[in-house]
Amino acid sequence: MDEIVGLTGREEVVEELVTEIKKGKHVILTGPVGIGKSAVLRAALDRLGGKIELVIRLHDHQAKGQFVEMARQMLALELITAQQLELPAKFHGVPGSEIDWKEIKSQVNRMSMRDLTQALIPALAKDEAKPVIAVDDLTSLTPTQMAFWLAIFDHAQVIGCASEKKARVRKLWWKMREIAVKPLSPETVRAIVKKYIETQGVLIESPELYISHVVKQSGGVPQAIYDMLDESGKERIIDKRKVREMRHEAGVQYLDFTPMVMVLGALIVSMRYVGMGTGDKMLYILGGMGCGAVFDLPLFHLQGGRAVVLYLYSIYSLRVNPC
Ligand SMILES: Nc1ncnc2c1ncn2[C@@H]1O[C@H](COP(=O)(O)OP(=O)(O)O)[C@@H](O)[C@H]1O
Ligand SMILES: [Mg+2]
Repeated sequence: MDEIVGLTGREEVVEELVTEIKKGKHVILTGPVGIGKSAVLRAALDRLGGKIELVIRLHDHQAKGQFVEMARQMLALELITAQQLELPAKFHGVPGSEIDWKEIKSQVNRMSMRDLTQALIPALAKDEAKPVIAVDDLTSLTPTQMAFWLAIFDHAQVIGCASEKKARVRKLWWKMREIAVKPLSPETVRAIVKKYIETQGVLIESPELYISHVVKQSGGVPQAIYDMLDESGKERIIDKRKVREMRHEAGVQYLDFTPMVMVLGALIVSMRYVGMGTGDKMLYILGGMGCGAVFDLPLFHLQGGRAVVLYLYSIYSLRVNPC
């Protein structure tokens, strides 16, 4: 899918990120899963290309994996030596770029987090160059791991992604400039869907209906657009009925009517008493009917037809015995 469409509508945020990286800032890209944080980060690093000398890209979501990846890349960039990583003597003195990772992989993997960081952080500190460490993603960071990252912040520039800024590691977020990756605009979603339809030759009964449906249901989340396009790709032809059946959680916004219903209920009930006090018969009767409706609302929901009978009965009974 990515090859078909490519990064669309992210010029500004990529440019913003490039600028911050050039300034030497630590940056955190935020936004829900699938919004395109990783894609923006990738685009910014590609754009910087040769302009930044040392780039370490970490793709693991777990801390251990991230630190193993860091060790591997620091070794290849010769920011750390085999001795510092406590590798077997036969690797000592061999330039990191010439060490075959396969030979040492299991050994590095066996190192504890503490040993790994105790090797990595001093090595980073000793080196003059400040590498850019792009870590995708930092969402599942724990307070213990945060301490390691804070130590790294002094000797490297960290660019990360997080779908949630957990409060327990807030000290880390304080040090990072936040760039929020927002949902794509409806025009961008349209452009993506159109391009997909054109290149894939999908048969659609009403393309306009289909496109506006994807715009609405995806909520501007690229991953949601792709999920829906993938789903459609399985069909031979997409008719209007299929379009109407298309749903995606990303676009569904739940409205909570509870407070409104409660206020309305209170108003209706009070109508009855105001009617009683002022002697306004009409208000009194309407209030009574309203009372019946409000109190029977759950019954409507639960029992449908039977509730209508109860509703009528309650209006009758309220008129006989005011509530
Ligand atoms: N602006 C965009 N245009 C087209 N495809 C995009 C865009 N942003 C993200 N994508 C694609 O959507 C998917 C989800 O994006 P990703 O960067 O992995 O999200 P996140 O890292 O926020 O979870 C990926 O396949 C990515 O290539
Ligand atoms: Mg990501």
